[in-house]
Amino acid sequence: MNKENIESILHEKRIFFPSSEFSAAAHIPSKDNLHKIHSIANRDFEGFWATQAKTELTWHQDFTTVLDRSNPPFYGWFIDGTLNVSFNCIDRHLEAHGEKIAIISERESGEITTLTYRQLYQRVCRFANVLKSQGVSIGDRVIIYLPMISEAIIAMQACARIGAIHSVVFGGFSAQSLKDRIENTRAKLLITADGGYRGGKIVPLKATADIALAKGCPTIEQVIVLKCTNQSITIEQGRDIWWHEAEANAHDKCTPTWVNAEHPLFILYTSGSTGKPKGIQHSSAGYLLGTITTMKWVFDIRQEDIFWCTADVGWITGHSYVAYGPLAAGATIVIYEGAPSFPDGGRFWKICQDHKVSIFYTAPTAIRLFMKMGKEIPESYDLSRLRLLGSVGEPINPEAWIWYHQVIGRERCPIVDTWWQTETGVHMIAPVPGAIPTKPGSCTLPLPGICVAIVDEEGNPVTSPHEGGHLVITQPWPSMVRTIWGDKQSYYDIYWRKFEGKYYLAGDSAHLDEDGYFWILGRDDDILNVAGHRLGTMEIESALVAHPQVAEAAIIGRPDGIKGEAILAYITLKDIEPLDEEKQNLLIQELRIWVSHQIGPIARPDEIKFVDNLPKTRSGKIMRRLLRSISRGEIITQDISTLESESTLAQTPQSKS
Ligand code: WTA
Repeated sequence: MNKENIESILHEKRIFFPSSEFSAAAHIPSKDNLHKIHSIANRDFEGFWATQAKTELTWHQDFTTVLDRSNPPFYGWFIDGTLNVSFNCIDRHLEAHGEKIAIISERESGEITTLTYRQLYQRVCRFANVLKSQGVSIGDRVIIYLPMISEAIIAMQACARIGAIHSVVFGGFSAQSLKDRIENTRAKLLITADGGYRGGKIVPLKATADIALAKGCPTIEQVIVLKCTNQSITIEQGRDIWWHEAEANAHDKCTPTWVNAEHPLFILYTSGSTGKPKGIQHSSAGYLLGTITTMKWVFDIRQEDIFWCTADVGWITGHSYVAYGPLAAGATIVIYEGAPSFPDGGRFWKICQDHKVSIFYTAPTAIRLFMKMGKEIPESYDLSRLRLLGSVGEPINPEAWIWYHQVIGRERCPIVDTWWQTETGVHMIAPVPGAIPTKPGSCTLPLPGICVAIVDEEGNPVTSPHEGGHLVITQPWPSMVRTIWGDKQSYYDIYWRKFEGKYYLAGDSAHLDEDGYFWILGRDDDILNVAGHRLGTMEIESALVAHPQVAEAAIIGRPDGIKGEAILAYITLKDIEPLDEEKQNLLIQELRIWVSHQIGPIARPDEIKFVDNLPKTRSGKIMRRLLRSISRGEIITQDISTLESESTLAQTPQSKS
């Protein structure tokens, strides 16, 4: 083994095959079928994507150039074609499916509303006309700061309809984060609400926006305010207008603005578990194409499906698999405004039951939360309509995967563990569920037309199984990030410089197994170096989570005079009852032996600390970077604006160790 590379120490051997019933009905029903699609893409890469773009998208003007490689790494796809994203998501379904339900929206209060494709069309057109009447036109930036309700999707689609570039800011972000994003995009207009509900409390969106605007944001000319909670807010005459008043007078038809394939559809700031938020800029045609193909390949979407992706539209998952992909595929989606455990831990399962959800897509952090609450809760709901489950956002620990499979999927539903990033736009490595068997903890194989490799520091492929390296993407792909908004240099430096423009650097470490399956080991920055062995965080964390008392685990390296780095584990337990010191010490011993047995003495934590919560980004990723600073007693100078709750920061250093 090359000592420069990362060692894989977890040996997960379980394998799950799709049922013949699932496969028979799937878009891609067998390994052979999938293999054929891959070989077409391998034989004629551009031809493959050209065919996909012609069959899946409705163009206003056809393209003749497939991939523009003239200025790498600033690639362009279908560059002389024109289309409109909102037309592709809505108008083209009207004739055949106008009365089909597009969106089922459940507020935290339990109030349910639905919109058919025709109603969605009218609302989007009206709101697009409102935006136009406020002087918004093609290329202008619009900030959307709304709760997870239908109007968030309407606002995004309305921007797309007139060629305005939206930037959605998650409703949980602070005034400072909102201000930073407004100023970086130089947005002209802000769309917000009086408030939204989360966990039984009102999130005061307009009041927060007022603070952001008072601090700066000179480019904002107008603020459109949606009435959502009815609490009193301040309206600034001449700047703020009510959504409902403006929409009431607007016409319900709005001709789409045909834009170039490469026209920016949106800017989205990354969740930033490793650094300063970056404005990821996506295109129109290539991005949309990626969302539709993955809806078919990975989610196997069908006309009769009820699709629920639990992500907020403030994240890329909520863009690709709530606001765009499912609608472009003509599906019915469910959206939910509130917290997963409000008013109790059964809320998600009640929603699945009530709305007959057939495809459910969530994050490992949510799955671990539900595991902690116990299987009795989901077991008391009718989840028989579920046919496919998905996971995204972090490596899913095998134990969480198995729980998801047994308790939620009732051993019937394939699980698609989807590896991708804000920057990739859509799934890159994920199971095609009717065609290939899955393994708990592996995101399986790259999708057709997606070229992925694992390479060492010099860029040479790492071929031997269980040896890890950098995950890179070796060919451009249609839904790829186009640049960092206003900062081409950082775009090159962060993603392309390491391999001199040849490969896109994902920033994750991974390894392949004997079957060529990909296993994500964690972020490159989080890799540990223990006595000359380079270890990923995921595998040690997974071993700990497999212990019956452990709910979540975060592994970091602490400088050590002898070993280089010592392994430090932060752990939250399933039992809420605090342990006395003696019991804690016994459990620490037990966990160290447990890890030794599970994966070997090299991975045994040197120190274990029990904490009430782990610091996470607001999209649920564990912030190991922050834990590292805390454990080293450093003053925290890094950007913590993406931290879910500052209280986790307060309790972590004084943790019971
Ligand atoms: C991690 C979310 C393992 C990974 C779509 C990636 C995953 C980062 C998985 C992107 C997965 C996401 N298995 N790790 N299935 N999905 N990640 O930009 O580290 O919020 O680079 O996009 O999340 O996070 P982002």
